Amino acid sequence: MADEPIFVTQPYLPPLEEFTPYLEQIWANKQLTNGGPMHQQLEQALSDYLGVPELALFNNGTNALLTALQAMNVTGEVITTPYSFAATAHSILWNGLTPVFVDIDPVTLNIDPKKIEAAITPNTSAIMPVHCYGNPCDVTAIKQIADKHNLRVVYDAAHAFGVEDAGGSILCHGDLSVLSFHATKVFNTFEGGAIICPDTKTKQHINNLKNFGIVDEVTVTETGLNGKMSEINAAFGLLQLQHMEAVLEGRRWVAQSYREQLSDVPGIIIVPAKEQIVSNNSYFPILIGPEYPLSRDELYQKMKDHNIFARRYFYPLISDFPMYSSLKSAKQSNLPVATHVAKQVLCLPAYPDLTDADLNKVAKVING
Ligand SMILES: Cc1ncc(COP(=O)(O)O)c(C=O)c1O
Repeated sequence: MADEPIFVTQPYLPPLEEFTPYLEQIWANKQLTNGGPMHQQLEQALSDYLGVPELALFNNGTNALLTALQAMNVTGEVITTPYSFAATAHSILWNGLTPVFVDIDPVTLNIDPKKIEAAITPNTSAIMPVHCYGNPCDVTAIKQIADKHNLRVVYDAAHAFGVEDAGGSILCHGDLSVLSFHATKVFNTFEGGAIICPDTKTKQHINNLKNFGIVDEVTVTETGLNGKMSEINAAFGLLQLQHMEAVLEGRRWVAQSYREQLSDVPGIIIVPAKEQIVSNNSYFPILIGPEYPLSRDELYQKMKDHNIFARRYFYPLISDFPMYSSLKSAKQSNLPVATHVAKQVLCLPAYPDLTDADLNKVAKVING
């Protein structure tokens, strides 16, 4: 319906009756959490689907990020991007570490590997890059730098479910990768997340850390948190996974429709998806350039006036939040590209249930 509000995203929900048999199983076996049968099945199903060696489920992506840094024994300073969701840097701060912001590449909008080395100090122990909007970082360049300086790499891959590069899953790069299954994500379990890791030993350590650091009935060795995914969320994930093809196809179609309708609008720059990858079309970011008759905020407001709720992801930059703004690396002069892009970006509504009429309405408002 053209006049209904159009939000930036809407969670995908399978038919309710398909979920009932999963609930009946949970009610029958009475195991609600702590690695029950649904949890075990989902870990296996997701590892197979994504083509990754080991996957540990979490109750959200933020707890997974916190635990990933803890599992890697990261100390001191962590190099990261200011152009992301608050949880990226918050996970660093919560671990008692210092984020060091490095500017982004103007095309990919991911951390610019050319600028990483200048930010390394004797206290640097890790890099936390983000595959922003699901567009892969320059994983080869980041690995070279990390190997040279003996740094851990923990990817915030919250947006990168199902994304592949020429070598397979993008989630296999770095020491660990972290997914979010929040309601707004391509694959959701209402709330949820996961750490992708290379081997069973690392996974066992992560499993202990997500369960308070408990090793056995009488042994607690580390200050772990409660990161466990419940059976109800895991069951929902199993059902969602059966619908992924339709979800991804719907998103491809939305992205293609926008590209066709907006490619030639003067001043509208579509953030390019990297070639040679399987994209998940998790977001549809555009940049509002100087040739466009309105500023980004004027267009954002005009869309609102038409009941279209686009979002300015990622504005403000994380580095402008009060807990980070006094850091030396948070200065705008250190982050000119991110500062500029944050003023230009607008993420258009993108989810599989958008209709032709919805997409035409969005394009028409942008086209003026
Ligand atoms: C880049 C990024 N990192 C981390 C998170 C945190 O994930 P969660 O909401 O599952 O805790 C999100 C989104 O929610 C995100 O967009």
